[in-house]
Amino acid sequence: MSSKGKKRRSQLSYGKLDKDGFIHRSWMKAQGYPDHCFDGRPVIGICNTWSEITPCNSGLRELADYVKRGIWEAGGLPLEFPVTSLGETQMRPTAMLFRNLLSMDVEESIRGNPIDGVVLLGGCDKTTPGQLMGAASVNLPTLVVSSGPMLNGKFRGRDIGSGTDVWKFSEDVRAGRMSMDDFIAAESGMSRSRGVCMTMGTASTVSNLVEALGLCLPYNGSIPAVDARRQALAHLSGREIVRMVEKDIRIRDIITREALVNAIKVNAALGGSTNTVMHLLALAGRLELPLSLEDFDEFSREVPLLVDLMPSGRFLMEDYHYAGGLPAVMKKMAPHLALEAKTVSGETLGSRLESAECYNDEVIRDLDNPVQENSGIWVLRGNLCPQGAIIKPNAASPELLKHRGRAVVFESIEDYHARIDDPDLDVDESCVLVLKGCGPKGYPGMPEVGNMALPRKLLERGVRDMLRISDARMSGTAFGTVILHVAPEAEAGGPLAIVQNGDEIAFDGEARSLELLVGEEEIQRRLNSWRQQHPASPYQRGYARLYVETVLQADRGADLDFLVGGSGDEVSRESH
Ligand code: FES
Ligand code: MG
Repeated sequence: MSSKGKKRRSQLSYGKLDKDGFIHRSWMKAQGYPDHCFDGRPVIGICNTWSEITPCNSGLRELADYVKRGIWEAGGLPLEFPVTSLGETQMRPTAMLFRNLLSMDVEESIRGNPIDGVVLLGGCDKTTPGQLMGAASVNLPTLVVSSGPMLNGKFRGRDIGSGTDVWKFSEDVRAGRMSMDDFIAAESGMSRSRGVCMTMGTASTVSNLVEALGLCLPYNGSIPAVDARRQALAHLSGREIVRMVEKDIRIRDIITREALVNAIKVNAALGGSTNTVMHLLALAGRLELPLSLEDFDEFSREVPLLVDLMPSGRFLMEDYHYAGGLPAVMKKMAPHLALEAKTVSGETLGSRLESAECYNDEVIRDLDNPVQENSGIWVLRGNLCPQGAIIKPNAASPELLKHRGRAVVFESIEDYHARIDDPDLDVDESCVLVLKGCGPKGYPGMPEVGNMALPRKLLERGVRDMLRISDARMSGTAFGTVILHVAPEAEAGGPLAIVQNGDEIAFDGEARSLELLVGEEEIQRRLNSWRQQHPASPYQRGYARLYVETVLQADRGADLDFLVGGSGDEVSRESH
C-alpha cells in the first residue's frame, strides 16, 4: 500500500489472484523472477535511452545496473525498458524533430506498464527534455540519472571543448589557418571518453537544471561519466526512487512554478544553453504551470554569469565538478533562490546546500565578482517577432548588442549554403544576415543552424562576428551575436517571411526590441502576396506530417498542441 492508502499501481496487475494476475506474473517469471518479486514491493521502471547511435548515452546500459543495485537493496523490483534515443550529432534533419516523439514513447511506456515509479536515464541534448515531458504527463514518482559529461577534450597540449572548438576549428580551416590533418586529429582529442559534451552545452545545462529543480541527487549534473562516483550516484538514486514511491513524492510535487523560476536563474548563472528556453516552456505546458517567454528575461536579469565555462568562458565540465559543481553555484547565488523548494529526497533545496563548498573561485565566481554582469536570456519584441525572439547576451559581442544594418537574406538553408561563400555576395560586416525556413514547421524540427557561419570573404579579412537573425535554434555550445527562435517562424507566415535584401533592421538589446524598418502597409502587402504564393508542406506522411500540422511555435516550446497537459497514471481497462 502507498502512503496515501491507495493500492500500488503495480498491484493492480501483479496483485490479482485471477486469470489477469496469472498472465501479468507468469510471463515476467520467464526472466527468472521468484514469487516474492510480486509481493507488493515498489516496481520501478528504468527508462533507458541507451543507444550506440547516441554516443553521449552509450554508458547508460552499464549505469542502469548500478541503479538496479540500489533498487534491489531498498526492497524494490527494477525493470529496465528502452525508449527512442536521440543522438544530437547523428540524426537528420535534427534530433529536435523527434523530441516530442520520444516524449510520447516515454508517456505511453510509463502509463501502459505496471510500474510505481520511474528512473529516467538520459543525457544527450533532447533525451532528458523528451523524457521529462513524457514523465510529467503521467506524474509518477520520477528521478533522473544523467550520463554525465565526457572528460575534458585535449589537443596538442591544451584543453578543447565539445562543439565550441568545432566552430572555431572549422572557421580556421575556412580562413586557411588550420590544416585538414590537424582538423581530423582534433576529432579524436575532443571526444575521448563516454558522456555528454563537456562544455556548458545543452546536455550539461539540462542536467544541471534537473539538479536545480531537485529532480535528482546532488552532483548529477557534473560528475564525469567515467568517474566511479557516478556509479555510486546511480546506486543511491535506485535507493531513493524506492523511498519516493513509499512516500508518494511525484514529479508534479517537485516541479512547481517556483522550482522552474529557480531553474531559469540557475541557467543565467551557468551561462546555459538557449535551448533550455524551449524545453522548460514545453515542460511547463505538460505540467500545466504558467510560464512565459518573458519570465526568462525577468528572472534571469537579476543573476550574473558566475560559471566560467565554454562556450561563454574558459573552463570545462571536469573543472566545474572539481570546483564544487552546482551545489557550489547555488550556494553562492542562494539569495536569489527559493530555498524552500522540495527535492526528490523530501529535503528542501536549502538544506541540501548547507554542506556545499566551492574549491575554485575562478571556475565558480562569487556574486560580487562575476564573469559578466549580463547573462541569461534576453527576450525581444517588435514587428519582426510579434511572438518573441531571444538572444544570449553573454555569447554576443558587446558592440553588436545595439545595431542597425542592411538585411542580407537567405530564403532557406540551401540558399544560404549556395551563396554564403560567393565572392560576389553583396555583404559587409555591418550587414544583418537573415535566415528563413528553419523554424519548427519549416525545416522541420527547428535545427541548430542559427549561428550561421560568416561569409568566407569577411572571415579572411578578420571579421569574427555579425548580427544574425533566424527562426532556428543554435547549439548550446555555440556563440556569436545571434537572434534566435523568431516567432511566428517564416513557414507559419511570420513577418520574417517577407524580409527582403536591403531592408533595414534595427536591434536594441537594452530596449529588447527588434524592428524591420519597413512601413506597416508595405509589410501587409508583402504578407498577403506571400500567403497567395506559398506552397503546401512537402511533409505528407508519418510522424513528420503529424509534427508539421500540430507543432506549436517557439514561444510555446514547440510541443505538439495535443500533448500539452497530461493523461495521468490511471488506465482503466485490462489487456485480456
Ligand atoms: Fe550529445 Fe552534446 S552531442 S551531449
Ligand atoms: Mg545541441
